[in-house]
Amino acid sequence: SAKTLIAPSVLASDFSKLGDEVEAIVEAGADWVHLDVMDGHFVPNITFGAPIIKAIRNRTDAYFDAHLMIAPVDPYLEAFAEAGCDGITIHAEAGPHLDRSLQTIRNLGKKAGVSLNPGTPEHVIEYVLDRLDLILLMTVNPGFGGQAFIPAVVEKVRRVKAMIGDRPIDIQIDGGVTAQTAPLVAAAGANVLVAGAAVFKGGTVEAYRANIEAIRQA
Ligand code: DX5
Ligand code: ZN
Repeated sequence: SAKTLIAPSVLASDFSKLGDEVEAIVEAGADWVHLDVMDGHFVPNITFGAPIIKAIRNRTDAYFDAHLMIAPVDPYLEAFAEAGCDGITIHAEAGPHLDRSLQTIRNLGKKAGVSLNPGTPEHVIEYVLDRLDLILLMTVNPGFGGQAFIPAVVEKVRRVKAMIGDRPIDIQIDGGVTAQTAPLVAAAGANVLVAGAAVFKGGTVEAYRANIEAIRQA
């Protein structure tokens, strides 16, 4: 699509009022709500799972974009679908049966995404392109918000953009996105930008709106 979508990551929000934060970010102009699920095994941090997503589902109609940083992932896909995720993104590095996992997500009626860590080459998704709705290229090593953007990934964005050809696949960027780094990845072909720390500054709807606009304008 022509428009660049902004997907704030609630990882940087105040978890003590997560439902309010989700409402606030949507009111502030967020296109998608990005939900970072971490297991303390695939990544060195633990966040939340399907029950929390289910609990905030009734607070907004916005698109719930789940980023699963968990291994194994297959046993949990149904629970995330039932919790009300609209898109489910898994990591190529998290399991040996990427093709099967992607089929499962689509069979659950959800948009299927695959994520690549900064050090993972794009060729690992070459044979699953027709099963994908979204490719998430990590611009930090997953596990924590507020890390520095890794510029080497910009070249991978270009290569993935060329690789997908005319397929209707979103290219999403996650990690260290700011008004400074957003133009680099947008120019390379990314159309969905995740941002945590850069969006959840200020703690009010007005601040969130200004933060989202700053990235969108950039
Ligand atoms: C990192 C997560 C990201 C992270 C982004 O493991 O997948 O979504 O929260 O946060 P910032 O924008 O602060 O780098
Ligand atoms: Zn994420």
